[in-house]
Amino acid sequence: MAINLKGRNFLTLKDFTHEEIEYLLELAADVKDKKKKGVPVNKYQGRNIALIFEKTSTRTRCSFEVAANDMGMGVTYLEPLSSQIGKKESIADTARVLGRMYDGIEYRGFGQDIVEELARYAGVPVWNGLTNEYHPTQMLADLLTIREHLGRIKGVKMVYMGDARYNMGNSLMVACSKMGLHFTACTSKEYFPDAKLVEQCNEYAKESGGSVTLTEDVQSGTKDADVIYTDVWVSMGEPDEVWEERIKKLSPYQVNKKVMDNAAKDAIFMHCLPAFHNLETKIGKEVYEKFGMKELEVTDEVFESGQSVVFDEAENRMHTIKAVMMATLGV
Ligand code: CP
Ligand code: NVA
Repeated sequence: MAINLKGRNFLTLKDFTHEEIEYLLELAADVKDKKKKGVPVNKYQGRNIALIFEKTSTRTRCSFEVAANDMGMGVTYLEPLSSQIGKKESIADTARVLGRMYDGIEYRGFGQDIVEELARYAGVPVWNGLTNEYHPTQMLADLLTIREHLGRIKGVKMVYMGDARYNMGNSLMVACSKMGLHFTACTSKEYFPDAKLVEQCNEYAKESGGSVTLTEDVQSGTKDADVIYTDVWVSMGEPDEVWEERIKKLSPYQVNKKVMDNAAKDAIFMHCLPAFHNLETKIGKEVYEKFGMKELEVTDEVFESGQSVVFDEAENRMHTIKAVMMATLGV
């Protein structure tokens, strides 16, 4: 049956089948190719989208804006604190107002329940640009990047190191188990993903031929991995006080040369970015002054190495977000 995602929300990959995700990846690869060749994909003139950001962003905001511009659409960016949302107006009311004016709405912010409520009331497609629980547009970019570099997705062994119970760990486990990859969360057990989500992903994996493994052991966990993935140890919206505990618990799971050498020979390093790999950031410097660590979740050596594909991932955010908007808005 032909895949039709018109009118659908994009809130988490849990809501999408293997075939639908595959379809979005194909569409993304096609629009990427068209962009490189200068072939326009601009049949969306007269349409408008709203971007709500309750947390900051570089990649996600720019991806939505560039993709929308390429498609011929108008964009309104609502930055943190610049609208009535949450302070003077409920999510349900905001959704019903924006839904009257816009053809699609992106939301980045806190709980998944907020983006779900927005979607319930908006009457137009709502796209999750990151919540505490999930980051689904990042997943499409990551799967496309893996396919480009390794030539396959199914059967790939991905190891995620760090805070595996937050948006990136959760989303990668869902994406991998849906698409037949072997996912390992290699981290301290306090940072293992939620048991109920693990159970659900085990079900997906049974169907796709993938698997889900949780381990605290770096040596066996990362052995022969095709992809080593990490993310910041402290996410947006978390208090500064958690740094000390994170550094203590997650330092053994830093991605360094030893980890990469233990992985498969052609393994790639991935990170959704932004990353703390040197002292060129304000937070990086503050953490160094307090805890003496110059590099956090990944060493500069690995980040800058030939195995690192982080900027390909960043570029693919734009192509995959374009595909999500095309598919859900309909051509
Ligand atoms: N990876 C990602 O979502 O980056 P931004 O926070 O810059 O959007
Ligand atoms: N876990 C990170 C992801 C950033 C893209 C955060 O939520 O800040």
